[in-house]
Amino acid sequence: MEKMKKSTDARLGVLRTLITHEEIMKRTEELAEQINREYAGKNLVLIGTLKGGVPFFSALLERITLPCRTDFVSAASYGASTSTSGKVTLNNITGMNVEGMDVLLVEDIVDSGRSLERLTAFLEGQKPASYKIIALLDKPSRREVPYYADYVGFTIDDYFVIGFGLDYNQYYRNLPDVCVIDPAYVEG
Ligand code: IMP
Ligand code: MG
Repeated sequence: MEKMKKSTDARLGVLRTLITHEEIMKRTEELAEQINREYAGKNLVLIGTLKGGVPFFSALLERITLPCRTDFVSAASYGASTSTSGKVTLNNITGMNVEGMDVLLVEDIVDSGRSLERLTAFLEGQKPASYKIIALLDKPSRREVPYYADYVGFTIDDYFVIGFGLDYNQYYRNLPDVCVIDPAYVEG
């Protein structure tokens, strides 16, 4: 806790902006336009992943001009660490019914791919009419299982990033930009 406090206070000393809020908005606009074209006449349901996907989900949602439904799922794999534990638990799925719908899963970031593997197994098991994935960020160099987003905001190198929904130990989700946190600082 002492570390997180110091880290928050010394924010400019430990963080570097990787993608600005303006860049995120511009890219989200482009992706929304593509979705508006490709999902016209379909039964779109946007499924957001809690908690990290919320800012991207909401930025995307307000730019979707088609009739659509929304739902949320929670996929937890991380403890207080910057690497995956490998075990993914889904929550908030009771009563979700997307049978016959055109499901678009909205993710914050794809890292090992294990969350997508788990979410895909669950959502495809619901017999949707179609199933696609949109992710704000993709770290392909970190993939452990072959799951990929159909639409990607930004492909990034192997950095641990925070902000615009992404957390380190539940902090920093409120930063408007996507920033790189210095791993030596948080793990050292
Ligand atoms: P995966 O299951 O390893 O692909 O990881 C997906 C989830 O891990 C994401 O939805 C995030 O919640 C979290 N995650 C992966 N990389 C990062 C990162 O760089 N910063 C913050 N969270 C991350
Ligand atoms: Mg997540």
